[in-house]
Amino acid sequence: MSVSNARPIGIFDSGMGGLTVMRALLARLPKERFIYLGDTARLPYGTKSGDTVTRYALQATAALMRHDVKLMVVACNTATAAALPALEEALAPTPVVGVIDPGAEAAVAAAPQGPIAVIATEGTVKGGAYRAAIRARAPEAPIAQQACPLFVPMAEEGLVDGEIAEAIAHRYLDPLLATVPKPKCLVLGCTHFPALKDVIARVAGNEVVLVDSAATTADAVAMLLAERNLASRSASGPHQFLVTDAPDRFARVGEIFLGQPIDPGNVELVDLQS
Ligand code: DGL
Repeated sequence: MSVSNARPIGIFDSGMGGLTVMRALLARLPKERFIYLGDTARLPYGTKSGDTVTRYALQATAALMRHDVKLMVVACNTATAAALPALEEALAPTPVVGVIDPGAEAAVAAAPQGPIAVIATEGTVKGGAYRAAIRARAPEAPIAQQACPLFVPMAEEGLVDGEIAEAIAHRYLDPLLATVPKPKCLVLGCTHFPALKDVIARVAGNEVVLVDSAATTADAVAMLLAERNLASRSASGPHQFLVTDAPDRFARVGEIFLGQPIDPGNVELVDLQS
C-alpha cells in the first residue's frame, strides 16, 4: 500500500446534515479515515446566492486540503449544485465527488421513465442541477421540484416527527404529489432531509420510492478510490471534525445525523476567513 492511501477523505457540508453522507461512507468504506468540515457559522447555504455559496465552498475545501485529503466529497447538495465545476478546477488533481449525479443516478434507477420529484433547498431547486442531471439520464422523464426550506432547521432542531413535522411535510409535499402524473420517486435532494425520512415516507405514501443519494455517493467514492488505486487497506485512526461555530452543539446534535456518538474531543473550531 502506498503511503498516500492512508491520507484521509475530506467531506464538506454547510453544517451537520452532511453527516448523513458520512454515515453511508463509513458503512461502505470502513477502512478509510475521514475529516469532515461543517460550515456551521454560515448555514444555511440553501437560501444564499450561487456566488456566495461558491466562495464559501472554496474556502471550506481549501481548509480541508490543508489536512492532505486524497479525495473530496461535497456532501452538500446546494454547494454541489452551485460550485462543483469551480471546486474541481481549484482542487485538481484531487478528485471531487458531489451528491447530485449519484442522486440522479439513483432516481433514474428507481423510476426509469419517471415521473421523478425532487425536494431540496431553494438554491438547489433554482439552480436546476438535479433537473439537468436527471434529464441527461432520462430525457423523457417528467420532473417536478419543490423547495422545502423549513426542513433544514427542523432537522437541526430534532423536530423530525410528530404533528408539527407532519403538517409541514403535508404543506410542501401535497401539491408536489398532486401533480399529474403522480411522481413514482421522490429524491431527498438535501443532506438534512434523510433525518425526516419517516414523516416524508408517511406523507408520500407507499407507492412513492424515496431516494437518498448518500448510498450512491458512497458507491461512487468507492469506485473512484479503486480506479485511482487510492483505497486504504488497513483500519485507520479516529475521524476528525472541523466546524466554524458551536463545536459542542455539533458533537451533541450531530449524533442524530451520523447515527453514532461524536467525541467532542475530535471536533475542532476553525476560522475559514483568516
Ligand atoms: N447542506 C445543505 C444541502 O444539502 C442543506 C442545508 C443548507 O441550506 O445549508 O443542500
